[in-house]
Amino acid sequence: MNMDSCRHEGLKAWVREVAAMCRPDSVYLCDGSREEYDRLMATMVASGSAIPLNKRPGSFLFRSHPSDVARVEDRTYISTPDPMDAGPTNNWIDPVELKETMRRLYDGCMRGRTLYVIPFSMGPIGSPISKIGVEITDSPYVVCNMHIMTRVGTRVIDELGKDGEFIPCLHSVGAPLQPGQKDALWPCAPMEQKYISHFPEENLIWSYGSGYGGNALLGKKCLALRIASAMARREGWMAEHMLILRLTSPSGRRYHIAAAFPSACGKTNLAMLQPTVEGWRCETIGDDIAWMKIGPDGRLYAINPEAGFFGVAPGTSYSSNPMAMETVRENTIFTNCLLTDDGDIWWEGMDGDPPAHGIDWKGRDWTPSSPEPGAHANARFTTPARQCPCICPDWENPEGVPIDIFIFGGRRASVVPLVHEALSWDHGVFLGATASSETTAANIGDIGALRRDPFAMKPFCGYNMGDYFQHWLDMGDRLGSKAPRIFYVNWFRKDDAGRFMWPGFGENSRVLKWMCERVDGAVGAQETTIGLMPLEKDLDLQGLALAPETLRELLRVDDDAYRAEASSIEKHLEQFGSRLPERLRAQLLALRERLG
Ligand code: GTP
Ligand code: SPV
Ligand code: MN
Repeated sequence: MNMDSCRHEGLKAWVREVAAMCRPDSVYLCDGSREEYDRLMATMVASGSAIPLNKRPGSFLFRSHPSDVARVEDRTYISTPDPMDAGPTNNWIDPVELKETMRRLYDGCMRGRTLYVIPFSMGPIGSPISKIGVEITDSPYVVCNMHIMTRVGTRVIDELGKDGEFIPCLHSVGAPLQPGQKDALWPCAPMEQKYISHFPEENLIWSYGSGYGGNALLGKKCLALRIASAMARREGWMAEHMLILRLTSPSGRRYHIAAAFPSACGKTNLAMLQPTVEGWRCETIGDDIAWMKIGPDGRLYAINPEAGFFGVAPGTSYSSNPMAMETVRENTIFTNCLLTDDGDIWWEGMDGDPPAHGIDWKGRDWTPSSPEPGAHANARFTTPARQCPCICPDWENPEGVPIDIFIFGGRRASVVPLVHEALSWDHGVFLGATASSETTAANIGDIGALRRDPFAMKPFCGYNMGDYFQHWLDMGDRLGSKAPRIFYVNWFRKDDAGRFMWPGFGENSRVLKWMCERVDGAVGAQETTIGLMPLEKDLDLQGLALAPETLRELLRVDDDAYRAEASSIEKHLEQFGSRLPERLRAQLLALRERLG
């Protein structure tokens, strides 16, 4: 379609302005149809950038440039006039300066390419919680991914009408083509030219130089977390890096759980959990992002603003996550997986033996004795949520689901026990604000480095994190006795030999069951220095072969180690200066008093 079919003068003017700056060969308005998806895929197959997978209908493999394999936190900016409003955990450049720099990069950057206009809705179209964005991109790969991850097309244009509000999201891979120049299979710009920029005071996103994941699919981290978190604070709701699931007990009681774990720390897996405890059932509502508002009954209601899963491939198997394996059987885009000789994909951790031969994510011959993995550690699948066999019938309910339980957590090889419960809302906010995790391949940078990742939002909070802590306290005050209970988990404790001590995945249902029983007041807990912990008899371990000493270790609180944690937490909290809520300082003091 061309822009003439659009009646929104503001949108048309923005597209004209961007086209005049980026100078594409043509402009194309996306209608979101299957025909459009197939047509774009066919051109990418013809150019060699997409590889059709004959084992999976409607599915394709892409290989990125080896330098463009994940989000780039070092190149991600929250650009507010006052640096204090971006805060100490965000990169900041003055908006006037940043726009000047980026305008120079955008100048002529789409030469030789098509400018695609993608109207999309985060959340079901027409729902009062949903928000409309329009992404301009020069990447057909981004268009096809957006088709899966969001609701795209004509229905959104209709919803926008003549003057509806939208969040403008500008993206370019940053690789203009000279006349006659052959395109790269994965065009992108060098690291020092990449910018993932947010202007929260204008609800504006400008991204340049990367084609991968959250850097390029701008509805996800840029809109639904960074921009939405800033809007949510202004408007009194919450935008969080959380999965949403429904757990149903044998007696039919429903519990809704939202959990925040850092990138590549288990949200997709927990969201699609297959409980190993007898009679319990799990249904998925979302696997990465939750938007939450207080409903008329005073409870907190959550929706998943996305329409697909952009999931970590390595480690996904029929034994760890059968529901994800079923979801990706068709209509799925795979990025940076290994290609097998029979036209399927493979990654490390998949069931069965590795293939005897394949083509690795860099396009080289691979065998099990190759020195490097066949799939990149941040290889991903992009797949429609509706294809998930355990998707909840209410996953598109515009009212959302009422949250009973919040879980925070991270990847910690030591110190942090399997589960503990917050003593109060303020203590729960303290647990979220001080959450820590070892870094993963979801970002380009160190892997395995321990860092504080408050509420799993360090890379995604669109304003000063100190103010964000206060927003959590304010929401708790408004929710009062209807506030969800807060827990903290760690599935990733390792023994001296470096093996995971807790089996994880479906077995995590045992821990969730205990949480549900706590909510119902059906089980007690023991008070420790760090919070409330299960009595050994209350954790349902029937049918699980776990050595008693392993369990004891998983539930042990090492006060000495937590004294050291307290010092590191103090340093972490101090960076927020005057923006740190006094109530969190009080929580640190209370922790130290309990530790004696
Ligand atoms: P993002 O999409 O980056 O936000 O990540 P995510 O939080 O959805 O992470 P995901 O569920 O994809 O898990 C990432 C990695 O952790 C995968 O390799 C999983 O196999 C592994 N993992 C997930 N859950 C568990 C668990 O309970 N135990 C263990 N040991 N590993 C897990
Ligand atoms: C994450 O890194 O938390 C993701 C993947 O969910 S990306 O969309 O690339 O940010
Ligand atoms: Mn994520």
